[in-house]
Amino acid sequence: MLSSRHFVSGVSSIQSLSRSAGCASSDCPAALVTSTSPRTRRRMLCFPLVGRPNCALSPMPASLRNDSFEVGGFGFVETRGLKRDAPLTTPRAGGGSVDLAITTNEPIHLMVVSDLDFTMVDHKDSESTDLLRFNMLWAADYAHNSLLVFSSGRSPEKYQQLRREVPLLTPDVGIFSVGTEILYGSSLDPDVGWENYLNEGWNRDLVLEEAQKFPALRFQEDSEQRPHKVSFFVEKDLAKDIVRDLTQRLKDCGLKVKLIYSGGYALDVLPQGAGKGEALAYLLKQLKEKNKIPKETLVCGDSGNDAELYTVEGVKGVIVGNAMEELLHWYDALQSKDHIFKATQRCAGGIIQAIEHFALGSYEVPADRIKNSSTTFDPESSDRKPASGSATREIVDVNTALVMWVNGDIPNTDAAHNRILGVMAEDGTMVYPWGEERLLRKSVVSYKSKHGLKKDSKVQVWMDCIKEQKLADNIILVSWQSWQQSTSGENRKGNFATAILRTKMGTPNGLEWVRVHETPRQCN
Ligand code: GLC
Ligand code: MG
Repeated sequence: MLSSRHFVSGVSSIQSLSRSAGCASSDCPAALVTSTSPRTRRRMLCFPLVGRPNCALSPMPASLRNDSFEVGGFGFVETRGLKRDAPLTTPRAGGGSVDLAITTNEPIHLMVVSDLDFTMVDHKDSESTDLLRFNMLWAADYAHNSLLVFSSGRSPEKYQQLRREVPLLTPDVGIFSVGTEILYGSSLDPDVGWENYLNEGWNRDLVLEEAQKFPALRFQEDSEQRPHKVSFFVEKDLAKDIVRDLTQRLKDCGLKVKLIYSGGYALDVLPQGAGKGEALAYLLKQLKEKNKIPKETLVCGDSGNDAELYTVEGVKGVIVGNAMEELLHWYDALQSKDHIFKATQRCAGGIIQAIEHFALGSYEVPADRIKNSSTTFDPESSDRKPASGSATREIVDVNTALVMWVNGDIPNTDAAHNRILGVMAEDGTMVYPWGEERLLRKSVVSYKSKHGLKKDSKVQVWMDCIKEQKLADNIILVSWQSWQQSTSGENRKGNFATAILRTKMGTPNGLEWVRVHETPRQCN
């Protein structure tokens, strides 16, 4: 599933905080998608085309130790000097389709399939507020039994670039280059079956040869020219004619292609069977064959090349509040649209709204849950037994509460402090990223005085790749990756974390914390 940055992250993020403190809308012309395949609903026939870690191992190197924050609690180690991942090159292994590693034995509850630019990611919000809220909601309540899919026009390379810029979770599946590349897991293993399918009847050289006859077509950068995608920039007022003429020419050459004009500037030429909708239909088929079909699928988009997503059989969809005209016009012309929700909120905020609108599950983000209950929490009032997902929720809630405490986003009350202290086992311990062990309770107590310490340059935390695993009836192991940065632009830091939780009546999620272990992780 997603990459994890949770368990340790929550606690450590707080510590690190305290330690460091101690010191367009487009009016593109309607464009044409010239073909659809039987995989997608026929209502799409014509749509507007606008549109290694060099981490600190023991013994802790002195340099790393010096960089680490000195705060009593969960800690982050400064990773500035650590190496970055090598730039991604999409692996092109031979063989058959790659299995999607689904760790849960439970039925898949929800699959969210989201576009990235201006859908999951709001490029106008430099603090990524709604994206972070979505991330924490996903980690708390969905990651344990649901699938996250990103479907973007970007190449894998440009996607990796975006990951370095904004706090993105690691999706279970990445569909890139406008539905021409399907990659699985954090290692981005390509689905070779999909590649083979797209090879049929596709002749890239011929597309290039014919396209060269159109001087108005300007090539996009090399990274966006992919095995099954040839991409150009085209002026908006020329687009309609060029799309028509190039489509005809390629057809005359016997090629089965799909042309998509998006965002008022980009023209993609793809094999006819490609596209975001076709790729999703293929993914759903793969999941069905493995008996892992999600109970619900929610597709999310903002622009022309997302329109296909809403045409896939059985999906529900959200058009985010900031959607481009091209997609809105397409929506207006639809006859059957009950399965599509037009959000009022922008980007990830609109996705959360859609989860509520379609009653797809919990939509209360952890920060709101903490805010709403922090002053009224009664440790004796709950006798819930841990259900599936309660361990991930507990980890995310406590980490969220810690961050809100140092940011001064919850009141400085005993009730708020006890929400955190009350779930730490008396003999519970934690190992910090810099190789020190402390009592969990001691760590939490040391936080008490850190309330509001980071209110001027708030700490942002997100937890990725969270997984829970039942080790015994009363013991759950949770692992995640936790990431932290600050609104003042402080460098991103990451930890791998694991935690052991034990059932305990009278706690908010029926669990208490027994052991936490954190190790620094390089930035990706
Ligand atoms: C992304 C891709 C670009 C493509 C556009 C529209 O911006 O980087 O190559 O043309 O999406 O699909
Ligand atoms: Mg978009």
